[in-house]
Amino acid sequence: MGHIWLIGMMGSGKSTVGRLLADRLGRPFYDTDAIIERSSGSSIAEIFEHSGEAAFRERERAAIAEVAVAPSGVVAAGGGAVLDVLNVDAMKASGSVVLLTADAGILAARVAGAADRPLLSESGDRGLRAIERARAAFYRAAADAVVDANGSIGTVTDRVEAACNVS
Ligand code: S3P
Repeated sequence: MGHIWLIGMMGSGKSTVGRLLADRLGRPFYDTDAIIERSSGSSIAEIFEHSGEAAFRERERAAIAEVAVAPSGVVAAGGGAVLDVLNVDAMKASGSVVLLTADAGILAARVAGAADRPLLSESGDRGLRAIERARAAFYRAAADAVVDANGSIGTVTDRVEAACNVS
């Protein structure tokens, strides 16, 4: 069985749902942001601030390539990972890609005041909506399945399990 890759906007629940799903399935959980932070010894915000977004994206590509060949599990990919076709190819070659979607108001509430999300630190909710619009086609193209991520963590995790036929 391959990986279950969770993609979607900041605040869609990739990390919380991913961790719970991995627990339920008894499989490893990977979070590409956490891998980048561990390997670089800096927070995502620090990487953006000191090295810029392009440097962050390079590290993200390396993290995704590394996870793609790791033992099968559940992966929370950073929200912007789908912008790079190499990342999408690596995801598709190593498992199924599940898009978590949630209403704009829910995303905004979940990321409210997030100091660790540099893309939003200046633009807030308005920025979140603009980013979502710009990325919508990338998310849809990458996804093997789309799951409604409005709702509790447990409910969303049930839906991902059903979508992947792993329950
Ligand atoms: C980003 C999302 C973040 C993180 C970085 C950039 C994005 O991850 O990778 O701040 O471009 O949407 P989450 O989606 O886990 O918040």
